Amino acid sequence: MKKDLLLRRRSTGEAELMDDPDCDPVALGATYRLFGVINPLVASWRPIYRSRIRPVLRAAALEGRVATLLDVGCGGGDVARCLARWAKRDGIDLTVTAIDPDRRAHAWAEAHDHGAGIDYRAQSSTELVVAGERFDVVVSNHVLHHLSSTELAELLTDSAALARSLCVHNDLRRSRVAWLLYWVATLPLVRTRTFARFDGLLSIRRSYRPDELTRAVPAGWCVTRQRFFRLLTVLSQPEPGRTSLSQPS
Ligand SMILES: C[S@@+](CC[C@H](N)C(=O)[O-])C[C@H]1O[C@@H](n2cnc3c(N)ncnc32)[C@H](O)[C@@H]1O
Repeated sequence: MKKDLLLRRRSTGEAELMDDPDCDPVALGATYRLFGVINPLVASWRPIYRSRIRPVLRAAALEGRVATLLDVGCGGGDVARCLARWAKRDGIDLTVTAIDPDRRAHAWAEAHDHGAGIDYRAQSSTELVVAGERFDVVVSNHVLHHLSSTELAELLTDSAALARSLCVHNDLRRSRVAWLLYWVATLPLVRTRTFARFDGLLSIRRSYRPDELTRAVPAGWCVTRQRFFRLLTVLSQPEPGRTSLSQPS
């Protein structure tokens, strides 16, 4: 297939190596581990936690409830563990659930919880909706670019049904500069047994530009740019009688 080197169009026809059910399990484990290093560097969850997520969790605490958060498509689970750690440091009682229907991801995440106490489940968002589950906050990291347009619509419908107050889907923003920076930064990985370089570069090519994602999401969702080549897709839905708490301060 001819590649669009300027990244003018989304790449939708190429599969990530880690999605191959027969891929090298050692390389897959190394990839989950490396994403645990790369995500904190590039995904900017800290400002999202402080400005959008923490106020919602604190509001739950004020109501005398244990706050709940769901990470959809958790992969190796590092984002869920990070959010749990920050809430604990802030003295917030939080239950974190992290789902991924990929059993390899689920097994790896569960084996690498390191005492974070996350409830990992090998389930999809749709299964949780069918089970009638609800969470104060629903998040995802690097999931939207992964999906077909039908799957994207389903995931947004699911997450809106699952979230009491706030959904934040944090993903890459397609950019030639981001692709070049990642290409250079991951040169040391060229001869290593991991998919982090190939799949990361492909993920950037698969990701959306702000106008494309804005057109793809239903009414009510807001697409905003975030530093380090990110896009946030946010739905803030105050329950009746509650003021929205999810606007960044
Ligand atoms: C690219 S991985 C991202 C992993 C992780 N969040 C990270 O940032 O490293 C996307 C994951 O989303 C999962 N996924 C896709 N659709 C999903 C859904 N509807 N519910 C739960 N997980 C889903 C896939 O199984 C895959 O493991």
